Amino acid sequence: MHLIRRPDIAPSEITPRDTWLDRRSFLGGAAAGAAALASGGLLAPLAAQAATAPREKLAGVKKSNWTVAETLTPYQDVTTYNNYYEFGTDKADPAENAHTLKTRPWTVRVEGECAKPATFGIEDILKLAPLEERVYRMRCVEAWSMVIPWVGYSLSELLKRVEPTGNAKFVEFATLADPQTMPGVRGRVLQWPYVEGLRIDEAMHPLTLLTMGVYGEVLPNQNGAPVRLVVPWKYGFKSAKSIVRIRLVEKMPVTAWNRSQPSEYGFFSNVNPEVDHPRWSQAKERRIGEFRKRDTLPFNGYAEQVASLYTGMDLRKWF
Ligand code: MTE
Repeated sequence: MHLIRRPDIAPSEITPRDTWLDRRSFLGGAAAGAAALASGGLLAPLAAQAATAPREKLAGVKKSNWTVAETLTPYQDVTTYNNYYEFGTDKADPAENAHTLKTRPWTVRVEGECAKPATFGIEDILKLAPLEERVYRMRCVEAWSMVIPWVGYSLSELLKRVEPTGNAKFVEFATLADPQTMPGVRGRVLQWPYVEGLRIDEAMHPLTLLTMGVYGEVLPNQNGAPVRLVVPWKYGFKSAKSIVRIRLVEKMPVTAWNRSQPSEYGFFSNVNPEVDHPRWSQAKERRIGEFRKRDTLPFNGYAEQVASLYTGMDLRKWF
């Protein structure tokens, strides 16, 4: 698909890690088979390829309470059905092409409206706060969804190090745009670099995850190595991959998708079953690996945690 448009935790749904780990091993092969079937067999050759890519475990990952008790989307699907336009617009392209991405050395510059701007090396980022595993629902504006065990820590841990000033109302994220290693950047499907943004309270919300891993391992390149954002109550495109610069700013940033189709992509992009995208109904979704459709939940099911951020806002206007 071209021009993609564009991701609840009730306390009762929070599950201990062991429980979902058990469930995961039980589901194992059967789920992967069902996923390949549901995707028309497309995933089968890619799955073989993903299995041969070098994988590296992350040490010292702790359990987190920010975890939903739902069946995990199999690793194969999480790592072979991707949106990462710098490596192509087809879902299979990133897994095929992103081996050219060089993730070391890597730095993230954090600057703008803050007292202590700084450049963080990826090794420092990995040690800045304890790594947590969090199972999040992810919902794409294209009306598919996944359940993914990410590894990272709240973005607020990084932001507070630079001491944001009172003028820091928004946060802008810019990601790598290297025409040498990223074939998509040589084309014009989007204006590069890929830029995303959050309001400061959204960025500081504990659910907003600075993400360095998935399934207990270092992020595969196609999932946004070495460091990306995951914002589970918003459509997937808000979760910027391979971040190189974070800027605290006073004005609402213009994001890559805003810029390309302002009528279709608002700044907030909260998952909202009542506000349809012009080309995709947002009322229902299909979980990757399943045939049936599920109802899409307000704020992707995270309303209890985040709805208060939007009190008094008309969410049809601020879509
Ligand atoms: N980040 C960059 N730099 N480039 C992209 O094309 N795609 C976004 C988001 N982050 C994208 C990106 C979209 S549309 C989605 S749905 C998610 O990444 C997909 O993340 P995943 O492939 O790890 O599931």
